[in-house]
Amino acid sequence: MKISVIGAGNVGATCADVLAHKDAASEIVLLDVKEGIAEGKALDIWHSAPIDRFNAKTIGVTNDYTATVNSNVVVITSGLPRKPGMSRDDLIEFNSKVVKEVVENILKYSPDTIIIVVSNPLDVMTYQAYITSNLPRTRVLGMAGVLDTGRYRAFIADELNISPKDIHAVLMGGHGDTMVPLPRFTTVTGVPITELLPKEKIDAVIKRTKYGGGELVRLMGTSAWYAPGSAAARMAEAITRNQKRVLPCSIKLEGEFGLKDVFVGVPVVLGKHGIEQIIKLKLNDSEMELLHKSASAVKEMMNVLDKLEKNR
Ligand code: LAC
Repeated sequence: MKISVIGAGNVGATCADVLAHKDAASEIVLLDVKEGIAEGKALDIWHSAPIDRFNAKTIGVTNDYTATVNSNVVVITSGLPRKPGMSRDDLIEFNSKVVKEVVENILKYSPDTIIIVVSNPLDVMTYQAYITSNLPRTRVLGMAGVLDTGRYRAFIADELNISPKDIHAVLMGGHGDTMVPLPRFTTVTGVPITELLPKEKIDAVIKRTKYGGGELVRLMGTSAWYAPGSAAARMAEAITRNQKRVLPCSIKLEGEFGLKDVFVGVPVVLGKHGIEQIIKLKLNDSEMELLHKSASAVKEMMNVLDKLEKNR
């Protein structure tokens, strides 16, 4: 198995490092446009192989897509990160151009690959990768839900003083302020958190989760990378190891949840074919309303992208 990670910034390098440590593929290629940076970071990761005992051969290249040939999975992290005061949506014009170019290059060497998009604004960049690649929707997915549920579960673990391993959660919708954490489907090994935490505490956790990315941008002056890198690696590993993991991913909906032609996060089964099933959990009216509101926010941004595409 082979995974290529495009963009050797903080998120891409972290993703490659986590993938290598998991031995999620026999070959991991890190690519960046900046001379030497991917080579350096990949070599640094490779030096930890004897120490941490993994085999995944990790190499770096400067914009040389021939090195990505026959990748089973490509993770796209390229583009600008958020700066303080910016929303994810502010990045659309610049990052869509970058994602488009990256996808065109990837497909020259790996026409049947599975693409995981990490660049922001996430759901819209996944749409960009989908229209540029012309791949089936099962092979183009966006990383957001794994990160957002990670934050959500970590905050719940803190609140209850329980291991984050035992908190299970579903979160749907776009990767933005309209994301939809679902407390009814959030459990401590099967016990709904609605039975363990008062509503105000749950609401506070939800609020902090929604703005979790922004909290980090404010603290660090740029956007997060450890959890985003790990989240993308978790998805790539589910594919290369054919794990059939149930993970929330941004995908194109075609009527599921009453939504069509819009990219939002929903729980899916990830295996060697990419998206192998969509888990159609039954939402109640208010959950459905929140999901549709989130989808409308994404759709607006998708329309902005359509206009940009027309003028290219
Ligand atoms: C975040 C950025 C990566 O949520 O979207 O941290």
